[in-house]
Amino acid sequence: MSKVVGWIDERFPLTKVLKEHVTEYYAPKNFNIWYIFGALALLCLVNQILTGIFLTMHYKPDAASAFASVEYIMRDVPFGWLIRYMHSTGASLFFVVIYLHMFRGLMYGSYRSPRELLWIIGCLIYLMLMAEAFMGYLLPWGDMSYWGAQVIISLFGAIPFIGEGLSEWIRGDFVVSDATLNRFFAFHVILLPLILAGLVYVHIVALHKVGSNNPDGIEIKANKNSAGTPRDGIPFHPYYTVKDSFFAVAFLMIFFAIVFFLPEMGGLFLEKDNFAPANILKTPPDIVPLWYFTPFYSILRAVTFLGDYSKLGGVLSMGAAIFLLFALPWLDRSPVKSIRYRGGLYKAALVIFVIAFVSLGFLGLKHPDHYDYLPFLGLKNVTWAQIYYFIYFAFFLLMPIYTKLDKTKPVPDRVRYSH
Ligand code: HEM
Repeated sequence: MSKVVGWIDERFPLTKVLKEHVTEYYAPKNFNIWYIFGALALLCLVNQILTGIFLTMHYKPDAASAFASVEYIMRDVPFGWLIRYMHSTGASLFFVVIYLHMFRGLMYGSYRSPRELLWIIGCLIYLMLMAEAFMGYLLPWGDMSYWGAQVIISLFGAIPFIGEGLSEWIRGDFVVSDATLNRFFAFHVILLPLILAGLVYVHIVALHKVGSNNPDGIEIKANKNSAGTPRDGIPFHPYYTVKDSFFAVAFLMIFFAIVFFLPEMGGLFLEKDNFAPANILKTPPDIVPLWYFTPFYSILRAVTFLGDYSKLGGVLSMGAAIFLLFALPWLDRSPVKSIRYRGGLYKAALVIFVIAFVSLGFLGLKHPDHYDYLPFLGLKNVTWAQIYYFIYFAFFLLMPIYTKLDKTKPVPDRVRYSH
């Protein structure tokens, strides 16, 4: 074995790479459960790519046969139903994992110096993931696939002067059609997965350059022993390979429980309207995107107060809501990173932000003129969405002020850890 490894090492730095990135990569010893989601995101990406390859073997990217080919996969292809449900459930759970992964960053200040670029690469991954999911959703050519794409692409029409031409260019036609399906298929199965895989690679390289943050927000590289290893670090292997594997199994148990018993998740993971083929002559009464887009969909629909410019205002707000994530490292002026040493102001702001984000997500699934959110208060869904719209933006735009005013606690020299 060592001869084989030696032979490879003379031609490729195998041992060096394994040492630097796995066996002798020192990670903080105080990681908690919030640090499993990066590994789980990787697992989700692999699952999407593998199941996607098998789906592509039977799927037909043609407006006349796409819907039927998905039904064929579900009914006739051996284990086709399993592959398809693993792909559709995988998409939703990927977003659950990514939202938790990002929330961890907000709690422990993982986006702060020296990890700004790591965070920005993460935000790019998030953007690409949204594009990937959006394009994938058109492929089954169900009624919601069709009308969802129609609504979102036509949003570009709100951009002055070039808007109409731009949305026509994206569709490749005057309406969503076979041309749109074909190009979305090309992007979904090859271009975006390539970009995503490349970005994830760069994400990990950037992480290993600066090293992981941790729940205390203390830089472990600042305190090294005589051998040059961080005093508060432990080798990634075996400690975190074992921990990540344990949680990967726990995650897969939840994943397969959903695949086998609840793949539609009551219309949240697979929408009811998508069980009917696209009817291009009749717009469905309520066009609702999948749950992971609904916070931004709510922000889009909340702008009703700008008259003729409401649509443009909504589109710009949605863009700004995502852009602000990129700016986070420069908005936070606190002297500490982790929530453990922050004061009440940041803690309160984060709790209110989470309530606003989840509520926007809920409201995005509902009709704007109904009263589904705390109905006893008698406010329309759209009014609630407007309240949360302002909270969402206030969280980011007021951050330089409240993080500066916040009363922080002194940060210890070494990380806190107990068995
Ligand atoms: C395909 C998607 C992604 C994959 C596979 C991925 C993978 C990883 C892995 C393996 C880690 C190290 C383990 C951990 O800290 O959990 C990590 C850390 C990190 N990721 Fe991601 N990530 C993804 C998306 C994102 C996104 C969308 C963001 C933010 C917008 C992000 C921001 C970060 C940050 C800031 C860290 C360092 C955290 C710390 O050290 O405290 N990642 N990522």
